Amino acid sequence: MRRRLAAGNWKMNGLGADLGEVEALAAAHGESGIDILLCPPATLLERMSRISGPIAIGGQDCASKEHGAHTGDISAAMLKDAGASYVILGHSERRADHGESDTDVREKARAAIAAGLCAIVCVGESLEEREAANTLDIIGGQLAGSIPDLVTGENLVVAYEPVWAIGTGKVATLEQIGEVHDFIRARLERRFGAGVGRSVRLLYGGSVKPDNAAAIFSVPNVDGALVGGASLKAADFSPIITALEQA
Ligand code: PGA
Repeated sequence: MRRRLAAGNWKMNGLGADLGEVEALAAAHGESGIDILLCPPATLLERMSRISGPIAIGGQDCASKEHGAHTGDISAAMLKDAGASYVILGHSERRADHGESDTDVREKARAAIAAGLCAIVCVGESLEEREAANTLDIIGGQLAGSIPDLVTGENLVVAYEPVWAIGTGKVATLEQIGEVHDFIRARLERRFGAGVGRSVRLLYGGSVKPDNAAAIFSVPNVDGALVGGASLKAADFSPIITALEQA
């Protein structure tokens, strides 16, 4: 049985004044039977981890190098030291804004796993790629290129986030989500064997909101969500968590 995961990505949002949202979530979901995760900007990691109670904390990126002369970068061990147990890698905004390739993402995931973090590797097609009927080819290539060899169900999560659905209010249909999640599951089983392939959790991301979460969580092979905008406020994220608890 895969333990479901509700993950929030705060992106470049959040100051100390927003930590009350975390306290509210922790109070509301203290007895949760699922995993709950928040990934704040690095500046809030340590402060958030001190008050997050049952909610796990994660980074939004890490360096592939362990340490050294890399101004502005943050290593996986530094994230762990600040209280993180997960890190999001290869988010489409990192791929687009910072030119991260599949190889970059794989090296970062390797470093994250070596440091004892669980890597959430993101994949997803652009609108152009979907309209050209290339979705599964693109996802297959990203999976092959971005995931390192030595993974388990404990140290890898894969997030399917169609680029055209992120922050746009456009959600993939349940059929589209199901098709891609089944494909990702099959590829993981083929590469890593049934045991590992079936134990890796698969998240959907892209405009997940309180009003569409339950339907998305009913799709087979959807083990949770990676939520952007709707994770910033406890009033929005809490009903999404509840929908997953009840799925
Ligand atoms: P969104 O972002 O929920 O705001 O669409 C999702 C993500 O980028 O993880």
